[in-house]
Amino acid sequence: MQRTLVLIKPDGVQRGLVGEITGRLERRGLKLVAAKFVDVDPELAARHYAIHKGKPFYDGLIRYITSSPVVAMVWEGPAVIEAVRQTMGATDPRQASPGTVRHDFGIEIGRNLTHASDGPQTAEQEIPLWFGPDEIVSWSRDSDGWILED
Ligand code: RTP
Ligand code: MG
Repeated sequence: MQRTLVLIKPDGVQRGLVGEITGRLERRGLKLVAAKFVDVDPELAARHYAIHKGKPFYDGLIRYITSSPVVAMVWEGPAVIEAVRQTMGATDPRQASPGTVRHDFGIEIGRNLTHASDGPQTAEQEIPLWFGPDEIVSWSRDSDGWILED
């Protein structure tokens, strides 16, 4: 089953939206397989956002993600990468569709509440930055038969 890295960024934590955002993923039927509260150091921030180095928003992005703790999670499910990005909405909250996290709780691109891996390769690179193999828990969910066809 596919996995993706999700971060609730400092604004999501400071604004008390951890339960709201996590609840939306849970209610969608996605399965939480790892979670922790992390004070992000500049090295981890730089590794996580290496792809954006050199872009005009990079320095602000590093300041943002290191400014206050984040919730890091791994979610599992069929096509979970696409599903989570759909639930979060477009990068810029002003472009995000109503009903998405970024639309419903955001108004500025630099305070867009969440991160989610953007493809299978990215997920494979990102998850080990945040979690050791022993921190990811494979578990049997009793409601699976009511959420998944097989
Ligand atoms: P994320 O990586 O956080 O899930 O978001 P994303 O794929 O939708 O967006 P991405 O292009 O990867 O950008 C990473 C984060 O950088 C900030 N950003 N600011 N000021 C700007 O033009 C700008 N563009 C991107 C956002 O916080 C975005 O989530
Ligand atoms: Mg991205």
